[in-house]
Amino acid sequence: MTAPTSQRPVMLTGGAGYIGSHTCVALHEAGHPVVVVDDFSNSHPRVLDRIETISGVRPSLERGDVLDTAWLCSVFERHDPAAVIHLAGVKAVGESVANPIKYFDINIGGSISLMKAMQAHRQQVGRLSPLVFSSTATVYGEPSRVPITEDFPLTFESPYAHTKLVVEQMLGAVGRSESSWKVAVLRYFNPVGAHRSGLIGEDPSGTPNNLMPFVSQVAVGRQAHLNVFGDDYPTIDGTGVRDYLHVMDLAEGHVRATQALMDGCDSFTVNLGTGIGHSVLQVVKAFEAACGKPIPYRIAARRPGDVAAYFADPGKAHKLLGWQARRDLGQMCSDAWAWQSLNPKGYREQE
Ligand code: UFG
Repeated sequence: MTAPTSQRPVMLTGGAGYIGSHTCVALHEAGHPVVVVDDFSNSHPRVLDRIETISGVRPSLERGDVLDTAWLCSVFERHDPAAVIHLAGVKAVGESVANPIKYFDINIGGSISLMKAMQAHRQQVGRLSPLVFSSTATVYGEPSRVPITEDFPLTFESPYAHTKLVVEQMLGAVGRSESSWKVAVLRYFNPVGAHRSGLIGEDPSGTPNNLMPFVSQVAVGRQAHLNVFGDDYPTIDGTGVRDYLHVMDLAEGHVRATQALMDGCDSFTVNLGTGIGHSVLQVVKAFEAACGKPIPYRIAARRPGDVAAYFADPGKAHKLLGWQARRDLGQMCSDAWAWQSLNPKGYREQE
């Protein structure tokens, strides 16, 4: 027996991760039940308690590996999802250079496994769930100019970006093969911050690679100082410029994309960013204001592979989905600080 459409959940692969946990809260806010599919390889089961505290609803959990297609097929049978948001994957650019096979396996293999399970489920129930795919702005490589629109040339400079581009292309081919595949590709810029409650947030294992979690760890005393990678870029103050986006705005973008597909919209690809670039030193200043402490930093060499300035033209997402980022850099920093100061060791606090 299939559950009535309004009660069919949204399936969230990687739903216990940083983007997944915030998307789960945003889906709950919009009235969607959620089934989280996660193996906790880069997340913590405690996140589900936190989601329940925020939402008053606990998502269903299916613990397992998306690469296990037979198991994934059984998850589809149990839940018959109204839509699927595919976030499960690995995302560290540096690690992908050192260990590309892991990235090809999990990111490309995981997406193939998911598509197979969706196709098998369609044979049983006679319809295909719409699919939202988590992609990245790094598929634009080093853009010739900013802001970046979706029609810019696509390329890759790391195996990580390569995997995202390959999956985008596979989804394009699948959509062309059969019009019943409805796919939204979301190209994220730089998601930062946390839910305003401070109960969920980004919890990187080991030393953070990304700016905002590193700055947060300096503020909380887990790192002595920030290394600013280069101060001789052709930008406002010589440091790199990025389009930092509040993770709850990003989460709400997923909800809009999912609803658009469920309402019958054709497949689409959109940038999710604010359209505003901020330099590393502007982020440091904003974080100092949010946490009320100085953030010691040193100027270091440029990080290989970094580009000078990178920000979105988010106009298409606004036009198509009515979506626009609402939270500014100050809010991103104060929410990141709420999470970091309440959870200095992330979800592992009580262990
Ligand atoms: N930076 C520092 N010191 C640090 C970390 C970062 O100065 O310790 C600088 C970088 O040089 C860059 C900026 O801060 O100028 C942002 O760096 P991040 O590592 O936070 O983000 P990136 O723009 O390099 O990349 C991120 C994700 C990718 C994703 C990409 C999309 O790491 O996975 O955004 O644009 F694909």
